[in-house]
Amino acid sequence: MPGDKPSVLVLDGPNLGALGRREPGVYGPGSHDDLVRSIEAWAVELGMSVETAQHDDEGGMIGAIWRASGRLDALIVNPGGYSHGSIAIQDAMQGFDGPVIEVHLSQVMAREPERRVLVTARAADALICGAGPAGYRLAMELARDMITKRS
Ligand code: DQA
Repeated sequence: MPGDKPSVLVLDGPNLGALGRREPGVYGPGSHDDLVRSIEAWAVELGMSVETAQHDDEGGMIGAIWRASGRLDALIVNPGGYSHGSIAIQDAMQGFDGPVIEVHLSQVMAREPERRVLVTARAADALICGAGPAGYRLAMELARDMITKRS
């Protein structure tokens, strides 16, 4: 939408700011800053324009989604623990004007039963989980394809 490059918001939810310090055996050793740097490098490679945000609270995430809707072409979101219970975030994702891709670093379907319920994914056009940080890159490629097909 803005400029001529496909544009995307990559939004991370609660506790993802603590990557690297948080259960590195599950989420990997890299920090959130490392992840953001990779996302920015992938955007250059893929010819995309990217904005990144991380919020620990539900309201912050919902506000970020609505501010991006109609301004950026696609949404890539890892709602963290809210994935398993937030109808409010599901509603915001549903309202986003454009493709929505949900990403999880870990393979949530192979974890505790409560993590196998993905309330937010109901509002996602695609779901990528278990690929670690590379899942964000896959989501960016997919978002670019989805945006190109729409326009
Ligand atoms: C997560 C999986 C969620 O179950 C967890 O609460 C997170 C991270 C992931 O990226 O694997 O915070 O979304």
